[in-house]
Amino acid sequence: MNEMIELLQNHVSVRDYDDRIVSDEVKNELVKSAQSASTSNFVQAYTIIEIKDKQMKAGLAEITQFSGHLAKAPLVYVFVADLYRHAIQLKKKDVSLDGLRNMESMVVSMVDATLAAQNMAIAAESLDLGICYIGGIRNDLTRVKELLHLPELTVPLFAMTIGYPASKNDIKPRMPLENVIATDTYQTSLTDLSTYDEQIRSYYQNRNNQQTDTTWTQKNVDFFSIVRRPEFAQFLLDQGFTLK
Ligand SMILES: Cc1cc2nc3c(=O)[nH]c(=O)nc-3n(C[C@H](O)[C@H](O)[C@H](O)COP(=O)(O)O)c2cc1C
Repeated sequence: MNEMIELLQNHVSVRDYDDRIVSDEVKNELVKSAQSASTSNFVQAYTIIEIKDKQMKAGLAEITQFSGHLAKAPLVYVFVADLYRHAIQLKKKDVSLDGLRNMESMVVSMVDATLAAQNMAIAAESLDLGICYIGGIRNDLTRVKELLHLPELTVPLFAMTIGYPASKNDIKPRMPLENVIATDTYQTSLTDLSTYDEQIRSYYQNRNNQQTDTTWTQKNVDFFSIVRRPEFAQFLLDQGFTLK
């Protein structure tokens, strides 16, 4: 196709980096690329916090429980959905913050932050860096809030580790197109995952590390059989969102 499409379709999360540091020049390009993402109504409702301090990295790694590579990653960013600076602007003009506190604005800020992150991920991969999103930081949102001194109307969504790959996993096959793409209306046939399940079973049995015998369906059933992070809603309320 072209190099860009090849890059996108060759993505794998990288959790093992060599010792090379990422230069300031590269870091600037990464952040500028993140900023170039589309942003709902041009609100630019996010902040990207680079974590340089080793103890902070270790603290965040501990919170994730299963993503210890964060402690050693050359570059770590935390993506924060952020309506705090908008609140300051509104307060200065004596305008109610109700328009910032509702679900719609909260989702806007989360989508904005996520689009920026994905732009950064692609930019990084185009420079032969490897990346891994780390949602595991949401295991203890209050602790992350304390560590990063997050004010109201901000939500830490995930971290991203970045570095030059020391090793890479095999590419994880995505669902067949016919399970993903519908025309005009939703088609319940999208949910027949039997072919994909066998493909994923084979992937897990044959990949170059942590081989296992499971299917995509089974993994999802296991994952969603537990109510995860039930404290998230309360955290959002504490941060000043109304969830309405
Ligand atoms: C928002 C988000 C959060 C994630 N959190 C973690 C995480 O905490 N730890 C981890 O090792 N991988 C994490 N991942 C990576 C996914 O596990 C990975 O993207 C998925 O298994 C597909 O594999 P691939 O990226 O290699 O194709 C996260 C990905 C996303 C998009």
